[in-house]
Amino acid sequence: MLEIGGGSCLGLINFAATYPDSRCYGFDLSATAILNGQRLASGVCPNLTLAVDDIMTAANNFAPQSFDYVIAHGVYAWVPAQVQSALIALIAHVLSPRGVAFVSYNAMPGGHVRMILRNTLLHAISEVEGAPERVAAARKALAAYGAEQAGDDPLMQGLRYHARMMLERPASVVFHDEMGECFAPQALSDVIAAASQVGLRYLTDAGPNRMFDGFLPPDAGDIADPDAEVVKLAQMRDYLELCWFRATLLVPSSAPLSRSLDSSRSAGLWVSAQLEVLDDGEFRSRGEIVKIGDPELASVLRELAAIWPGRLRVEQIAKTPAQLDGLMRLHLAQQIILHAAPAPFVTEPGAFPVAGRLLRAMLQSGEGELVSLANRNLRVDQQELRAMLAAADGTRSVAEIGAMVTSIPSDQIAAALRYAAKQGLLQA
Ligand SMILES: C[S@@+](CC[C@H](N)C(=O)[O-])C[C@H]1O[C@@H](n2cnc3c(N)ncnc32)[C@H](O)[C@@H]1O
Repeated sequence: MLEIGGGSCLGLINFAATYPDSRCYGFDLSATAILNGQRLASGVCPNLTLAVDDIMTAANNFAPQSFDYVIAHGVYAWVPAQVQSALIALIAHVLSPRGVAFVSYNAMPGGHVRMILRNTLLHAISEVEGAPERVAAARKALAAYGAEQAGDDPLMQGLRYHARMMLERPASVVFHDEMGECFAPQALSDVIAAASQVGLRYLTDAGPNRMFDGFLPPDAGDIADPDAEVVKLAQMRDYLELCWFRATLLVPSSAPLSRSLDSSRSAGLWVSAQLEVLDDGEFRSRGEIVKIGDPELASVLRELAAIWPGRLRVEQIAKTPAQLDGLMRLHLAQQIILHAAPAPFVTEPGAFPVAGRLLRAMLQSGEGELVSLANRNLRVDQQELRAMLAAADGTRSVAEIGAMVTSIPSDQIAAALRYAAKQGLLQA
């Protein structure tokens, strides 16, 4: 796996630590960010290399087709046009014939809204010198812009709402994002046009509500150019739904693809679901009531709810084509999550619990914001919980961990470990 412009590459470090048999490489132009990543990764993942490098010339350092997965998260729309071209060309150079690249970017047409706010802020602070002064002036301008005015039309109300949302994000994020030196939101069709020039094609998008963009609708009939059709439909959807962000997956043009959804192909995947069980066949998920007619599928969902965030293998729980279709419909409705691999964490602590390797390194270096084996960031400030996780290195029993962390009453240590497991902090 290669990560391009990964900053300190925390996600990649977590992946490499979780999957020691993988081989990972990450680079960024920022020496400070890479040094930070190297400090975290040292001693944790021998299967990872982090280096300072420039997208413009990095292709010279890699053999053709040398990576199965390539990630460029939040880079493409933050760099000048020549770096965008070099980034796509680098992906085409390193991607293996069955490889998949993930390229995320601020998308159009939502990007237009962001551009309005960006231009307003840049204008407001154009005469202000010094970073802290510019941040303060930008926040002041945002607060003024965000205040509702009598006579605002709905469009202006919407813009003011987005200004207020920007104000809620950390100033550092806004400064690196909308107010960065380069901010160029992209239309999906332009990204795909650039990719196809260097021998890449659209697979689909990652992310819960765009994952099916690469499939033709079931009633599409015979389409002469399925690739062009899916991109045309997805681009139209972006316009109609004011798309803000995309995480586009690219593959080599020669990769064999089927554009029709076939739920039997999900049999080899794993599934998890965060559901509240209401009644025999009734569940609540994401605020919606889901009714399941098939009693077998309903019983599977009850099991998934009980083991969340644990996963079950699809082929063990969905035996008939109708059940596989049912699961796929639930996935389309974002009621369940399909995964390519079993969970790398346990949901119940074992006799000798093991906190993730990266997690223990982060605890040791005093990081407040930790990253779970489910790749979620979470802040852990309670010293007792931190001490307990640091002690959970696989050599100590639950009772021994309890004896080391006397600030947690011994009858609560098992419950605290169970909590840690439910957060995806304990290794499988
Ligand atoms: C918006 S940040 C995203 C960082 C990271 N991928 C993340 O999601 O947190 C863009 C990153 O691209 C890097 N970058 C910009 N131009 C680059 C270049 N020419 N070569 C390598 N990295 C570059 C920056 O240093 C920065 O870390």
